[in-house]
Amino acid sequence: MKDLVYISTISADLKKSDILSILKGAREFNAENNITGCLVVCKNQFIQLLEGSETDLDVVFKRIESDPRHSNIHIITKNSITARNFPEWAMIYHNFDDLKMINSELDEYIETLQLLSNTGVSSTGSLSVFWESVKNRMTVEC
Ligand SMILES: Cc1cc2nc3c(=O)[nH]c(=O)nc-3n(C[C@H](O)[C@H](O)[C@H](O)COP(=O)(O)O)c2cc1C
Repeated sequence: MKDLVYISTISADLKKSDILSILKGAREFNAENNITGCLVVCKNQFIQLLEGSETDLDVVFKRIESDPRHSNIHIITKNSITARNFPEWAMIYHNFDDLKMINSELDEYIETLQLLSNTGVSSTGSLSVFWESVKNRMTVEC
């Protein structure tokens, strides 16, 4: 099993209703294809974690890559995993912008993620810290 994390820029004209529609489609497809994960919205960026078999991830990522609702898509990591981070979730959603108090922490994460995607260096350490902290803040389900 693998996980894949990418970061992308949200299209400027994207509305909340568009995100709900992305989630609806994603959850249907993912549930049928044994894919789990988490979609984070933060400022003007999506950060998405996808978990599943390599073949399934390739298929879903091709769909995601060609979606005009975001651009500037950079894979940060693709790793082998033994257990899923979000086994219960076809695609859980979290909007970090709702949590104003963690903005500075967030800036740090985003900077690290961007750095990782620019250099192509995969650091599972900082990424697991990131997803752990996402999990700990999962209070709102959308
Ligand atoms: C940020 C983002 C995340 C997405 N995540 C998923 C996903 O996890 N699973 C999925 O099937 N589609 C996901 N999509 C939607 C696909 O890109 C695509 O719109 C959907 O699969 C429908 O494709 P179709 O119109 O070619 O049938 C995502 C789209 C965006 C913009």
